[in-house]
Amino acid sequence: MQAWSNACRAKGESLSFVPTMGNLHEGHLALVEAAKKMADKVVVSIYVNPMQFGENEDFDKYPRTEQQDLEQLQQKQVDVVFMPDSAEMYPPDQTIDYIAVPDFATELEGQTRPDHFRGVATIVKKLFDAVQPDHAIFGEKDFQQCMVVKNMVAEHGLNIEIHAAPIVRDEDGLAKSSRNQYLTPEQRKQAPVLYQSLLAARQKVLAETLNYSEIESQSIDFIAKNSFEVDYFVIRDATTLGAPREQNRVILVAAKLGIPRLLDNLRVD
Ligand code: PAJ
Repeated sequence: MQAWSNACRAKGESLSFVPTMGNLHEGHLALVEAAKKMADKVVVSIYVNPMQFGENEDFDKYPRTEQQDLEQLQQKQVDVVFMPDSAEMYPPDQTIDYIAVPDFATELEGQTRPDHFRGVATIVKKLFDAVQPDHAIFGEKDFQQCMVVKNMVAEHGLNIEIHAAPIVRDEDGLAKSSRNQYLTPEQRKQAPVLYQSLLAARQKVLAETLNYSEIESQSIDFIAKNSFEVDYFVIRDATTLGAPREQNRVILVAAKLGIPRLLDNLRVD
């Protein structure tokens, strides 16, 4: 991977990179499209990173659809699909250089999934070292993940521009996700409630008649009434994830609908 990347650079070609765990859907493919516009060559990686899964999470069951993924990437005319195995990414006789994550990584997703973002930051750093891109594209769907990656790049002084691409949704508003396929038909009908709750909360924030915690608790009630088990529903500052200010606010939600845990977010301003 590094040799190919070096050869591109020697020819003066720029490189953009889309890291994934495979089981590609239109959300991933939109990142690939964005990547193609940014640079001469596009690399996509497929690697289901064990380090970012908790003990009781779905690492073993994570859908692996290599053949389908490769066909889709071939159609998109991606230059390289990088598919390392775990022996390469985490050689058994080597100590792992864990990447430290900022405080905000222990909140929200980090609270439910301790060590998740350390696993993400560590693998993304390793992938960046292998691919050595000029640009890397991540989905805003995983809002905190984008922040963790930007922090890692700044902290390590990497010369890589990080881009956050908008969330791709189904027609009824449900954010596309590999985990949606585990919804029963009945749950799939209920799932857009999550996006509706974000739209409604944004309206309320902009109307300025209720305070943030009232809006949050009304939203949680609304989602819970629709069979979801809500993990969090918060209005935050989109840069720091701290308390919201007048501008630059984001609403973040995570909730389980049966087994699948769904994530979504919406910018207010
Ligand atoms: P994965 O879940 O496969 O997602 C790969 C990229 O696709 C991420 O940047 C994610 O935010 C983006 N994505 C997923 N669904 C999207 C949607 N509906 N709209 C727009 N973008 C979407 O995220 C990971 O893999 C891993 O944590 C990874 C970064 C590869 C590190 O292992």
